[in-house]
Amino acid sequence: MNILLIGSGGREHALAWKISQSPRVTKLYCAPGNPGIAELAECVDIAADNIPALKDFALQNKIDLTVAGPEVPLTLGIVDEFELAGLKVFGPSKAAAQLEGSKMYAKKIMKKYKIPTAAYAVFTDAQKALEHVYMSRFPVVIKADGLAAGKGVTVAVSLVEAKRAIHAALRDKVFGEAGAQIIIEEFLSGEEASLLAFCDGKDFVPMVSAQDHKAVYDEDKGPNTGGMGAYSPAPAVTKEILRQVGETIFKPLLDGMAKEGAPYKGVLYAGLMLTPGGPKVVEFNCRFGDPETQAVLPRLQTDIVDIFEACLGGQISAQKISWSDAAAVCVVLAADGYPGQYAKGKEISGIAAAAALPDTCVFHAGTAKQDGRLVTSGGRVLGVTALGADIPAAIKNAYKAAGLISFPGLHKRKDIGKKALAYLP
Ligand code: AMP
Ligand code: GLY
Repeated sequence: MNILLIGSGGREHALAWKISQSPRVTKLYCAPGNPGIAELAECVDIAADNIPALKDFALQNKIDLTVAGPEVPLTLGIVDEFELAGLKVFGPSKAAAQLEGSKMYAKKIMKKYKIPTAAYAVFTDAQKALEHVYMSRFPVVIKADGLAAGKGVTVAVSLVEAKRAIHAALRDKVFGEAGAQIIIEEFLSGEEASLLAFCDGKDFVPMVSAQDHKAVYDEDKGPNTGGMGAYSPAPAVTKEILRQVGETIFKPLLDGMAKEGAPYKGVLYAGLMLTPGGPKVVEFNCRFGDPETQAVLPRLQTDIVDIFEACLGGQISAQKISWSDAAAVCVVLAADGYPGQYAKGKEISGIAAAAALPDTCVFHAGTAKQDGRLVTSGGRVLGVTALGADIPAAIKNAYKAAGLISFPGLHKRKDIGKKALAYLP
């Protein structure tokens, strides 16, 4: 099979790594890819959101299956466009991808199908939003409706912070159209966890659980990022919680989306808050998580191409999927200053030594080749994943590998996986 993978981050490097292990793959292309992916696939210089060019490429190169990594092509409707052209593509339709593309849509669906989530109200008018906040208990959570690259959410602990967030979105339009509507939500407390599932339009099979670390500094201090590390499994997600998530979240959602005429195919990512009242949805994403994927896929023992095809064929329940019992920890190596301003073009060394350690993968995210040297080119530069017999062993292995890699201005959290320890026997 000829496969086209779309995207250029650490998630896509992990996907390329897993897809390239399939004996069914003749040729793997990645648009646009990165230097790490280039070792596994032929990278083609087409942007992830240039759907017409991606479609032409897929037709010309006889692509048998396309896998879209990021949310943008999915919410733009790459699946609909490709299917119209007779191309097979793994992911949700434009209508179904609205679960991530519009928080308001996701909230409406959750309300309609009684899926547990935070209470909310929607505003387009700053004054009305402020009046609502005056009446609310703090903290309140203020969210831009549309895609804001992970920056559209403020957990406001004071009126001043709430005002700032409301004005930023509705008056100053810092998120453009994505923030023309905002959602003000009840604050949920508890442990966060990510549960992703393979979905075929009617049935789903959950992957192993994971937890992301969104804040830039240790102990969840500092601004939120795309994710500074992840581990899997998340022991806070017990068997009973897993059962509840299936029964109260995934099942009614898939049934509901089918009723809406937008059956959900692809990966559905449920960002959960494990509250004392049971698991509740913080957000849905219409794709694999980043960096959760870098911690989850190294545990997958089944051919991922078979799984993609089972989803497309409406056969996910019949597909056997096995996972390693090992734990995985992914530590992100970022550029100092991220998620704000940061330097680029810093030379990276030590990757080969780290990758040579047993059960260790170094996934590229923001890297580039410059005059034959590997340099930094983004905020999140690399993700270093290691397996271990349990979470403490995986933490040790991941930090040992991460410690071998350096570049000027490297920043990493030193506590990835630590939260899991509280849940271990
Ligand atoms: P989101 O982009 O919706 O996942 O939100 C980003 C982060 O904000 C989440 O990972 C949570 O840490 C936090 N957050 C979002 N919504 C809530 C909520 N209702 N209660 C508590 N924390 C939240
Ligand atoms: N790790 C968060 C996300 O992928 O959206």
